[in-house]
Amino acid sequence: MTIQNDGYFTEENSADVVAARNADAKDARLRDSVNILVRHIHAAIKEIEPTQEEWFETVMFLTRTGHMCDDWRQEFILLSDVMGVSMLVDAINNRKPSGASESTVLGPFHVADAPELPMGTNICLDGKGEPMLVRGRILDIDGNPIDGTKIDVWQANDEGFYDVQQKGIQPDFNLRGVFRTGADGVYSFRAVKPKFYPIPDDGPVGQLLGKLGRHPYRPAHFHYILEADGFESLTTHIFDPDDPYIHSDSVFGVKASLMAKFDLIEDPAAIAEAGFDGPFYLVEHDFVLARP
Ligand code: BEZ
Ligand code: FE
Repeated sequence: MTIQNDGYFTEENSADVVAARNADAKDARLRDSVNILVRHIHAAIKEIEPTQEEWFETVMFLTRTGHMCDDWRQEFILLSDVMGVSMLVDAINNRKPSGASESTVLGPFHVADAPELPMGTNICLDGKGEPMLVRGRILDIDGNPIDGTKIDVWQANDEGFYDVQQKGIQPDFNLRGVFRTGADGVYSFRAVKPKFYPIPDDGPVGQLLGKLGRHPYRPAHFHYILEADGFESLTTHIFDPDDPYIHSDSVFGVKASLMAKFDLIEDPAAIAEAGFDGPFYLVEHDFVLARP
C-alpha cells in the first residue's frame, strides 16, 4: 500500500503546507500577509539552519522585547526602527511628488497636547543650551504660501533628552510648541541647538545593537508634524548636517532633503536685528506640502 503524504509537512514543502492550511481565512489581506511572511521566514530558516538553542535564544529575545513594553516604552517599535522596517513602511506610505518635502519617523517622544504659541515664541523654558532661531515658510508645490498650517515641533535639549524623559528635571512642555501660519506661510520660533542622543538602549534592542557592533545614536534634529486643510499631513525632521552621527542614524531616518544648515551667527548687527544678546544659531528651512 502506498502512503499518500500530500499535504504533510516536509522540509521542502513547508511554506506551501502552512499556506494551504490558511485557505479558509475570511480576511484575504490577513491570509496573504501571513502566507508571505511564512514564505520569507521559512526561506530564512532554511538559509540560516539555526540550532535548537539558537532558535530558543531568538524566541527568548522576542519574549524579553515584549516584557520591555508598557504604556511608555514600545520595544517592538524600536526593533522595527533599528531594522529599518519603520522607515520602509514610512517610505511606502508617503510617496511624494517631486518637490514636496519628505517624511521620516515619528519616534516615541511626541505629545499630543503641546501648547499653541504665538509665532516667534521661545520654546526653551529652562534657559539652558545655545540659542537658536528656526524659521522658514510652508509652501505648496507651486511655491505659494499655505495659510493656516499647524506646525507641531519638538526637540531634545542640549544634553540629548526630551522633557518626557526628564520629568522633574526639565519643565513640562520644554522644547515643544504648536504654531499656526498666517497668509504669508511664514513660521519662526526660538529654541536651542539640539544634540545627538541614543534611542532607549537599556533593553534587548540596545543589547542587540551592541552585539551587531552598532551605536544607538540619532543625529541632532527637530521633529515636525505639519497639517493644513487640503494637503497631506507631513511628519518629518530637519537635521544638522554637521552632526557626528549624520551618516549612521540608528533608525535610518536621515534623508538628504531633510538637512538644514545650523549657522552660527556672530555678526553684531544680525544679532541685534534678531533680538538676541549674543551669538545664536540660525536654521532656515522651507517645507513643501503635497496635495492628496
Ligand atoms: C526620535 O527621534 O525621537 C526617535 C525615533 C525613533 C526611535 C527613538 C527615538
Ligand atoms: Fe527625536
